[in-house]
Amino acid sequence: MSKTITGFSKLTKEEKTTWLIKNFLSDYPESKPILNQYLNSNTKLQQLHDEFIENSISNFYLPFAIAPNFIINDNAYVLPMAIEESSVVAAASLVAKFWSKRGGFKAEVLSTTKIGQVHFMYAGAYLNLETYFNSIKPTLLKATESITKNMRKRGGGILDIELRDKTSDLDNYYQLHVTFETKDSMGANFINSCLETIANTFRKDDVEIVMSILSNYIPDCLVKAEVSCNIDDLGENGVEFANKFYQAVQIAHVEPHRAVTHNKGIMNGIDAVVIATGNDFRAVEAGVHAYAAKSGKYKSLSNCSIDNGIFKFWIEIPLALGTVGGLTTLHPISKLSLNLLQNPSAKELMMIVAVAGLAQNFAALKALTTTGIQQGHMKMHLNNILNQLEATKEEKKTLIKTLNNKQITHNIVNNALQQLRIK
Ligand code: MEV
Repeated sequence: MSKTITGFSKLTKEEKTTWLIKNFLSDYPESKPILNQYLNSNTKLQQLHDEFIENSISNFYLPFAIAPNFIINDNAYVLPMAIEESSVVAAASLVAKFWSKRGGFKAEVLSTTKIGQVHFMYAGAYLNLETYFNSIKPTLLKATESITKNMRKRGGGILDIELRDKTSDLDNYYQLHVTFETKDSMGANFINSCLETIANTFRKDDVEIVMSILSNYIPDCLVKAEVSCNIDDLGENGVEFANKFYQAVQIAHVEPHRAVTHNKGIMNGIDAVVIATGNDFRAVEAGVHAYAAKSGKYKSLSNCSIDNGIFKFWIEIPLALGTVGGLTTLHPISKLSLNLLQNPSAKELMMIVAVAGLAQNFAALKALTTTGIQQGHMKMHLNNILNQLEATKEEKKTLIKTLNNKQITHNIVNNALQQLRIK
């Protein structure tokens, strides 16, 4: 195995790149210039990014965009979005404008409790374990006092520690189920530090600690976002549109294949704002999808109703977000994004992110139930292909006109470009 290496992490960036190119990229001479091109010439900034993770050899850019005209609880916002998928930001902006003329979005945080667990095995009598737990519970809380001090000052901390008997699921399996309030921080480090301290204090001969870790499933850290208006205010074919839209949401409630795609569209908006604000989108994704399956069947995260001529569309999702700590203020663009959002609390950010998801879902369903999504996508697709083919500004202008509403494939665009160049 000559292509394996020991001590890779100790090499300098230059040495890492050299080893990588020699062993895995020797047939791709562009490697070095590409990697170098994406390094930031501002060495301090580059170092900041290098130190976010390990073995960093370059940067991977995502476009950073903004979607204006969001009215949320009567306040105007411009949403920062970091995403590579075309049409998402355009859709968000259009929907924001649409609902800004119909009262805007309403949002509220329903709960903010986070969860962590100490998983352990115990083979003795339950009653003895329960007695031990009850006697040591105050000591468990006391042991975490130095970690929770600052959080308690901000009104957060450990809410409760419960002993849970899971032996009906797995022999000898128990948990300490711990609930937390982490205020404006996402709280992952805080929760995990508390859990490890609790586990070490709880440990004894007949208790085998397996692991201590937060849960990304947080059904009691919920936010709701909503839009509503009179059906007639939805546009020319308001009634027809509302009915079809309603059916599309119902389909996503009963059909998991559709529900996954429906929810993916919601995550287009959510992830883009979560990433732009330096939050953990994998944690959000995991928690949101688990919530979509909470009934035992994977379903739509959004709901729609039409009652007495009023169209209502809403979403309820769990979100673990922070506006302090982690990358939020460390990454200059995340810091800028939070400033752009007027330095929101975690609760405010939960509302903004939920709105981004709802807006994206509205845009997707509106397109799908009327014109279809390909019309918009094809425009961006055409532009991407023209960029790939290195078309000039003038060539692009002409071809976007000639290929408007036509079938777009790489071949078709390439032929059209060659024809144009011959002319
Ligand atoms: C594409 O990224 C997202 C959609 O597929 C969402 C949906 O189908 O609802 C358009």
